[in-house]
Amino acid sequence: MFSIFSSSFLIGMIIDKDMKILITGGCGFIGSNIAIFLKNKINNLTIHSLDNLSRNSSKINLNRLKKQKIKNFNLNISNKSKINSLIKYDFIIDCCAEAAVEASKLESERVFFTNLVGTFNILEKAKKDKSKIIFLSTSRVYSIKRILSKAKDINKKKI
Ligand SMILES: NC(=O)c1ccc[n+]([C@@H]2O[C@H](COP(=O)([O-])OP(=O)(O)OC[C@H]3O[C@@H](n4cnc5c(N)ncnc54)[C@H](O)[C@@H]3O)[C@@H](O)[C@H]2O)c1
Repeated sequence: MFSIFSSSFLIGMIIDKDMKILITGGCGFIGSNIAIFLKNKINNLTIHSLDNLSRNSSKINLNRLKKQKIKNFNLNISNKSKINSLIKYDFIIDCCAEAAVEASKLESERVFFTNLVGTFNILEKAKKDKSKIIFLSTSRVYSIKRILSKAKDINKKKI
């Protein structure tokens, strides 16, 4: 939760009022929290979400977005022509992904189209429209050894 709060806070510092923002994966865990944080923090922002609601929890988050009057486009991020037909955004925050490593073994094709083709489509859209972009990487890039040693430090402090 700290990382969501701190990343939302940092994003809030570089986003101006009157901007048009697209949050891909906007009905996901991180995307929905960033969307709602920004909506409440900065007046006059237009925030749109792009999410195909493939996670069960996304439907719950969709209701949270609706309450804040944040529109969701129910599109698959791998659909290049649909992505390109969206309006021009000042900022794209790319939170759309299949984050589960197990899924890449069981449904490789879907994960390939979401994580690789989808990211490519969003980068192309940002390039075409000269939008600024923030891409959320995976936590798996951090060294497991470093994470474990941090966890040990934290546990020692608790004792
Ligand atoms: N959750 C964490 O603690 C954490 C930490 C570090 C990095 N990240 C990264 O941040 C990103 C988002 O993570 P999250 O936890 O919010 O994931 P999430 O699964 O909650 O959200 C992803 C959203 O993307 C949507 N989606 C999936 N495939 C789609 C497709 N083909 N087209 C359109 N929408 C699609 C899903 O419906 C879901 O709402 C991932 O890249 C993840 O690796 C997450």
